[in-house]
Amino acid sequence: MKLLITGGAGFIGSNFIHYWLKNHPDDKIVNLDKLTYCGNLENLQSIEKNPNYKFVKGDICDLNLVGAILQENKIDTIVHFAAQSHVDQSILNIDKEGRESNETIQKLFEHSLPYDFVLNNTWGTHVLLEAAVKAWRGEEFRNKKFHHISTDEVFGALPLDDAGKFSESTKYDPRSPYSASKAASDHLVSAYYTTYGLPVTITNTSNNYGPYQYPEKLLPLAITNLLENKKVPIYGDGKYVRDWLYVEDHCRAIELVLEKAKIGETYLIGGLTEDVNNLELINRVLAIMGKSEEMLEYVKDRPGHDRRYAVDWTKAKNELDYKPLYDLDTYLEKTINWYKENESWWKRIKSGDYLKYYKKQYEKR
Ligand code: NAD
Ligand code: DAU
Repeated sequence: MKLLITGGAGFIGSNFIHYWLKNHPDDKIVNLDKLTYCGNLENLQSIEKNPNYKFVKGDICDLNLVGAILQENKIDTIVHFAAQSHVDQSILNIDKEGRESNETIQKLFEHSLPYDFVLNNTWGTHVLLEAAVKAWRGEEFRNKKFHHISTDEVFGALPLDDAGKFSESTKYDPRSPYSASKAASDHLVSAYYTTYGLPVTITNTSNNYGPYQYPEKLLPLAITNLLENKKVPIYGDGKYVRDWLYVEDHCRAIELVLEKAKIGETYLIGGLTEDVNNLELINRVLAIMGKSEEMLEYVKDRPGHDRRYAVDWTKAKNELDYKPLYDLDTYLEKTINWYKENESWWKRIKSGDYLKYYKKQYEKR
């Protein structure tokens, strides 16, 4: 296969590239990434000289660039990860108390405004779809695949203490600029299947964690703070529920989709079967790291904070034979060990611009 991976310098994308080259060493990969603050070529250092891997610095919104990549590399499979991915960044500028002018914020965080989410996530996906149709239509899409990575957040929020879960038939109800931009991108992907017959598949997945995750998300932030003997900020009452998916299980799920899924189908991918709230999750981390609950710091809640996500991944289990390989505690320990062993990776990130973000996000909470 000849794959175009978008956003391959980010967290899940870089894990996917490592996974794919390990399990499909003869396939060729082009990684297109514009290297926003989350994109980090250090994630891919160990494979950068692999003759089957090529990096292109560029924007998925550039139709000519994407078209040229597809043609020159005879790409037959697109796996689309590129996006602005952090909910807090998508709402940073609308928090009334912390409000600053667009200009100031833009100087600090070039990629943190809500419109940037719409631009990269929605418009960017649209451009990729257009480029794929243009490049592949002549061959009537033979042996071609466009796989779109999306999120369970497009389904909105579930109540606490409820047995209900998101499934493939749940109505879309996105509630943050991030999830709304992803929801719009999902609809565009489906529309290109219906309208042009582009061979698409979509996965909506839950909260990923593992190596190379930018420490703005809860788990890498908590683990690295604890390694620095700093407290872990807990939003609101901490009784928010997420489904936690180890990134390598996610990569395997994408592989199964590419190998077995029916074209035009959507699959939900999750990592758990029981609810675990944020406090329970971080308490497990504290226990593994030998720290006490004194290291928790309750801070002001996220505006519009979705209460509960829960994912029913039965369809992926039945049709693709997907299931997580290990349990949450095993994966948490593995993740903590990775951050312990790769201190220089996250310490470099947690200096410079990250400090400005941390101050803005947490100081007045
Ligand atoms: P990330 O923020 O770590 O990485 C995103 C990558 O995309 C970065 O390398 C960035 O430079 C690149 N990028 C952004 N805009 C681009 C553009 N216009 N052109 C080219 N490259 C661009 O994100 P992640 O956590 O790895 O998420 C990857 C995908 O998975 C996203 O689509 C996200 O919505 C989805 N997702 C993430 C999670 C999660 O828990 N992290 C869960 C479900 C779905
Ligand atoms: O559900 C999938 C989504 O998971 C992905 O689509 C997003 O790209 C990804 O960022 C993630 O979104 P969340 O908002 O759920 O992840 P985050 O790690 O930011 O927060 C997880 C939970 O932890 C959420 O309830 C907010 C809370 N939290 C987060 C941070 C950063 C805290 O309590 N304290 C924090 O400092």
